[in-house]
Amino acid sequence: MKVVSIVGARPQFIKLAPICRAMERAKDAILHLIVHTGQHYDYEMSQVFFDELGLKAPDYHLGVGSGTHGYQTGEMLKRIEEVLVREKPDLVMVYGDTNTTLAGALASSKLHIPVAHVEAGLRSFNRKMPEEINRVLTDHVSDFLFCPTQNAVENLRREGFTGILNGGKLLPLDCNPSDFPHHSPLVVNTGDVMYDALLLYAELAEKRARILEKLDLKPKAYALATIHRAENTDNPERLGAILEGLERIAREGLPVLLPLHPRTQKRLRETGLHPKDVRVLEPVSYLDMLILEKNARVILTDSGGVQKEAFFFQVPCVTLREETEWVETVEAGWNTLVGCDAERIVQVALEAREGEESIWPYGDGRAGERVVLTIIYL
Ligand code: UD1
Ligand code: UDP
Repeated sequence: MKVVSIVGARPQFIKLAPICRAMERAKDAILHLIVHTGQHYDYEMSQVFFDELGLKAPDYHLGVGSGTHGYQTGEMLKRIEEVLVREKPDLVMVYGDTNTTLAGALASSKLHIPVAHVEAGLRSFNRKMPEEINRVLTDHVSDFLFCPTQNAVENLRREGFTGILNGGKLLPLDCNPSDFPHHSPLVVNTGDVMYDALLLYAELAEKRARILEKLDLKPKAYALATIHRAENTDNPERLGAILEGLERIAREGLPVLLPLHPRTQKRLRETGLHPKDVRVLEPVSYLDMLILEKNARVILTDSGGVQKEAFFFQVPCVTLREETEWVETVEAGWNTLVGCDAERIVQVALEAREGEESIWPYGDGRAGERVVLTIIYL
């Protein structure tokens, strides 16, 4: 069986890693090719992850780069189609909710190649987010919907999906999925591949990453922040208010570290906004990021992946958005939605407390294996 994974943006390289491991173990049954659309291309947004996570080099690099949504998605669609026509895979795998995800899913479904969506069923219910459009459309052309949580399964059930394997409960690893009653499109609760990734690389991060020493940071004595969501970066008022919140936290005596996404760097140059008293860094590698997250006193972010990693490490999180797809982190008390109100950002960050320990909705770190088990048997 030939499977093509289509990736292109930072979080997708991380989600790909556990899938690659599981595919590698099934290499007698699966030939796995990687297509990189080139959505992200700076060394620290792309190649560093291939190097650090030990991913094999992409079989195709499409070099699409940046542009408007229409340009970027359109170029990807054309170039992915050419690859798929040449390679004729049995299945295409797409990850998350970026323009790369949508282009991969659309190109494949129009060629009648089955599509598997890793991280299916997530919803913010905010159609102004480009990611929400990408998720909804991708889910509705997918044949396999691999969900990270039971909540994601329930979102799909509400949208009319009925082919839910094992009632939406985590798929047992010792089963033959074809023994369950099933029909396409198939919804499977696999657990979260980002939790797999964290478990796979946490030890290596402890051994290799020297970021705390390099930045002279003491564990639990700093705040870690990331900002890149379009709704925040492309609105100077929102961006200004968030930066003001971060500056005030730093002035209250808690150093703030801000590894800055290139999108946000660009907006700061354009608007002339400069976060004073905040330590602004280039984007860091995944292993460095894991160490920074684990040792932070509090994390402030608008990233989906970073909200979840804060939860995995049981570090309080302040989310710089009005809503989140990762509702379990809020329900468990580890994550607070604060939007862009500077006052509230400061107050919640400085008072951030631990949540409850009893809730663990993200599986057992073996989501990648469940994905491969399902595609082999079904
Ligand atoms: C994309 C995803 C977003 C995801 C994020 C992960 C879409 C619509 N958005 O947002 O869901 O959370 O990736 O990080 O797909 N740029 C560089 N160098 C790079 C990449 C980008 O300078 O290597 C700059 C360019 O100015 C570009 C801007 O960042 O225009 C935005 O990049 P783009 O890939 O369009 O969207 P992201 O904001 O990265
Ligand atoms: N990340 C990283 N370096 C950084 C910022 C984030 O390695 O400087 C990792 C982070 O640990 C997580 C993923 O990138 O695994 C999240 O990606 P991002 O925030 O870009 O996108 P999102 O998850 O919001 O789609």
